[in-house]
Amino acid sequence: MKSTSLPLVFLVVLLAVSLPGSTADPVGTCPAVDGAIPVYLPDSVSCEVFYECSNGLATGNICPPNPSGVGNLHWNKSINVCDYPENAKCSL
Ligand SMILES: *[C@@H]1O[C@H](CO)[C@@H](O)[C@H](O)[C@H]1NC(C)=O
Repeated sequence: MKSTSLPLVFLVVLLAVSLPGSTADPVGTCPAVDGAIPVYLPDSVSCEVFYECSNGLATGNICPPNPSGVGNLHWNKSINVCDYPENAKCSL
């Protein structure tokens, strides 16, 4: 009876297809060569995550806790710092 394994295969395929969309990824591309000013990228799913480029590779970082005690600071992509959520105006 091979039919019992079919639902399991279907579930695994469904998981594999649905995962990439929910994964955190840098928004944009790191330059292949570092310039004088470091390049930072925001995250596709989290306001609290940013990436620092180094030799074409984006390294993920998380902003420090919000001093107010609720959650973490958000990435302000205008000035490339972790900022208060009300300043960063992240719309994710
Ligand atoms: C980022 O920080 C600057 C300087 O504090 C602020 O003026 C700006 O509103 C912040 N947010 C965005 C989305 O630029």
